[in-house]
Amino acid sequence: KFQPMQIINHQYQIQNVAVLDIAQQFGTPLYVYDANKIVEKIDELKSAFPNVKLKIKFACKALTNVSILKLMRQNGVEIDVVSPQELQLALHAGFEGTQVTFTPSGVSFDEIEAAVETGAIINLDNLNVLEKFGQRYGNRVPCMIRIKPNVAAGGNAKIMTAHEGSKFGIDIRQRDEILAIVEKYNINVVGLHQHTGSDIKEAEAFVKAADVIFDFAHSFPNLQIIDLGGGFKVAYKEGDYTTNMPELGAKLSEAFLKLSETLGRELQLWFEPGKFLVSEAGVLLVHANMVKQAPGRTFVGVNSGLNHLIRPMMYDAYHHIVNVSNPETESKGTYDVVGYICETDTFAKDRELNEVREGDILALLNAGAYGFTMSSQYNSRYRPAEVLVYNGQAHVIRERETMDDILRNQVLLEL
Ligand code: LLP
Repeated sequence: KFQPMQIINHQYQIQNVAVLDIAQQFGTPLYVYDANKIVEKIDELKSAFPNVKLKIKFACKALTNVSILKLMRQNGVEIDVVSPQELQLALHAGFEGTQVTFTPSGVSFDEIEAAVETGAIINLDNLNVLEKFGQRYGNRVPCMIRIKPNVAAGGNAKIMTAHEGSKFGIDIRQRDEILAIVEKYNINVVGLHQHTGSDIKEAEAFVKAADVIFDFAHSFPNLQIIDLGGGFKVAYKEGDYTTNMPELGAKLSEAFLKLSETLGRELQLWFEPGKFLVSEAGVLLVHANMVKQAPGRTFVGVNSGLNHLIRPMMYDAYHHIVNVSNPETESKGTYDVVGYICETDTFAKDRELNEVREGDILALLNAGAYGFTMSSQYNSRYRPAEVLVYNGQAHVIRERETMDDILRNQVLLEL
């Protein structure tokens, strides 16, 4: 199911726009997103759950550009935020506060109060915070509770969030404490939430975590929402496994409908995918600054690095790379594709690519999720610009930074 960019008429294209032209027009490094791909993924998720009342809340930490958020909104997707700043971006993109879920981790209570003011619903993930929420709001403000089901799943240890040692959520073994606080303040718990982790392939892991939540749901008479988080695995390379969405949809829907039936009311099922919606829609275009021949090794140095896409260095993540300037050739090479940051920022080691020449444009695929949002100005380099291909046309949705951005907020003292 890995779907690399399409070669049409001997060139890489996104919606019939030549990728090389995009690189030429807007320069590199450049994040380019395909709006059609995002809409396709929304539809894929919806069609896996035809029989339940489904709500998709985009986990916008994956990609917060306001034009992308607007695209989500126009396609019936709501939004999950994790900071007051993401919440502001959501409002800026036109979401109503009531369409926002705030899923914070270890924030001060001020942030929760500010989010409540906007109408957002909060996922409370700490007994103390639940208690404060009860003291402050009683039953006046509906809320959700984030549970840690103690299920270990995810692509790597850094992106697992529901295992026993994880900081997230209230441990399900504290269920009695939760219920005591809820009862004490008559808290209006309308939803239960859990998020297992990222890059989860096995439908079983989702089902196991869901079962914990479904079971606990019986304890809340006002419950309307079950939010099962995100974490669906997408394909990063040929032969890569992915979450089987129809299978997952069938399994979860069955258990979910049974729960609704037992409780005697129709519940809503929410998901908060990040990667699933935007990973495959994005590429990072870079320019080959150098081809360096060393004994037994050839380095391709590009005008980007861990400052723009940190996933390979942080998680050993694989990002497929294609040579946009040389799409069809028999001449191949094996390269270490490296960045221009003064650190060992290797995008790919011993990677076979179509022959790379100085000046070629390379595309790193699956860069839509946690690409730009995890970028930085390290080495005082500018973050990339962002382009959205929408209705067959490439539009800038974020200008490239300038020196003003790097100097902004710096104070040069009179010394
Ligand atoms: N909901 C909650 C509460 C989350 O913490 C996350 C991700 C998501 C939803 C969305 O997960 P997704 O569908 O994108 O897997 N930077 C890492 C991923 C960290 C995910 C953090 N939480 C990476 O690039 O692999």
